[in-house]
Amino acid sequence: MPDMETIVSLCKRRGFVFQGSEIYGGIGGFWDYGPLGVELKNNIKRAWWKAMVQDRDDIVGIDAAVIMNPNVWVASGHVATFTDPLVECKNCHKRFRADLITSEACPNCGNKNTMTEARQFNVMFKTHVGPVEEDAAVAYLRPETAQAMFVNFENVRESMRKKIPFGIAQIGRSFRNEIITGNFIFRDREFEQMEMEFFIKPGTEDGWHDRWRDERLAWWKKTFNINDNNIRIKVIRREATTIIGPDPDDVKEEKPPHYSKGNYDIEYRFPMGWSEVEGIASRTDWDLSSHMKLSGKDLSYFDDETKEKYIPYVVEPAMGVDRSVLVALFESFRQEEVKGEKRIVLRLPKQLAPIKVAFLPLARNRPEIVDLARKLTAELKPHMMAMYDDTASIGKLYRRQDEIGTPFCVTVDHQSALPSDEKYDGKVTVRDRDSMEQIRVPMAEVKSVLMEKLGA
Ligand code: GAP
Repeated sequence: MPDMETIVSLCKRRGFVFQGSEIYGGIGGFWDYGPLGVELKNNIKRAWWKAMVQDRDDIVGIDAAVIMNPNVWVASGHVATFTDPLVECKNCHKRFRADLITSEACPNCGNKNTMTEARQFNVMFKTHVGPVEEDAAVAYLRPETAQAMFVNFENVRESMRKKIPFGIAQIGRSFRNEIITGNFIFRDREFEQMEMEFFIKPGTEDGWHDRWRDERLAWWKKTFNINDNNIRIKVIRREATTIIGPDPDDVKEEKPPHYSKGNYDIEYRFPMGWSEVEGIASRTDWDLSSHMKLSGKDLSYFDDETKEKYIPYVVEPAMGVDRSVLVALFESFRQEEVKGEKRIVLRLPKQLAPIKVAFLPLARNRPEIVDLARKLTAELKPHMMAMYDDTASIGKLYRRQDEIGTPFCVTVDHQSALPSDEKYDGKVTVRDRDSMEQIRVPMAEVKSVLMEKLGA
């Protein structure tokens, strides 16, 4: 597996991810996705939305506002408890998360025993709604997308005539004023989440919790083609923390979050160690009950068949999009040697690849070849992400496409485009990223051959 610097450098060099506001020296915990990063991210989001919403009858989607009534965060417990312990070095005045400090010495200036007592720091970003910056106008940037599903539970249930069990899903931005960011896009202050709240009958939560653990693990493995050695489940219960999967002894005791009866965390083996990419929480009726109390609105459910009335329980699979981008990059990165030369290739699953096909003219000084390559690009564009590139020699163009994970390159040469050429055959060369195998395909069949190979 590559180290983090290799991935950061590839991301910048090839236009996946840039540091936010880089020309001003950046800003910690904020990243900008470049032309290829946005495609990769959109492909991951599309795969999740399809699996979680479009392919199912029992889950519907919403897209809610980032800023919500501040009472939402009182009821959810975030105002009171969404905090990290903060300490400050009395010498250099740098601030740190107390639970991440491992020695007596300040990690910045090295002085010993200079840390203040820990105080709780709320990691929600505050802002003001309207023109007056007074306490009454304080609002928060949402620290999770989940609460919009709880406050819209009744709206969605009624408008969509949903019966329990059913789920509400959302993809959107979340914001946390993390004390320490780091490991590239792993821990950010602005990030994207894909969360789904699955509303169920109390008493059935353990079965549903296990079912969602299995479904989500299978989704990760299939979507990113993850090797079994690189993914595992951390079981976080009030009594104990255990591991299902590789490195079972590499585990630290943890407690579930304030809203959860227990968590299954899906962890990936990053270079900095096993780290969470998705949490599957058994949230009980914590959220709906709290919102009922504070809002005074009845959010209970009446089951027509059994004539029972209850406050639904919730199982919540919640993942971070940015962390999944990192998983896609780490899991697909390969450095290979081909005929004595180094080749970097992203073996991304085809559905995630930012560009599906690149059309490359073998000679850019021959208008017939260039025109034909451009014409083929235009023909394919409505059907898949296709690009044209003639900015380097063919060897360099192949290497560039390998490095960004493009599954197919199509080379247009003299034989393809010049009827006067004695070897003219009207065919182009389709090159496979992984096997590097090249086949000649008649011009008229390029589209159908690529569509078939891509499973589109
Ligand atoms: N609604 C539950 C919830 O928000 P969480 O474990 O705090 O649970 C869910 O977050 C997922 O969101 C995490 O597994 C992670 O992938 C992502 N996430 C959380 N904080 C993040 C951060 N600061 N930067 C990037 N991703 C983050």
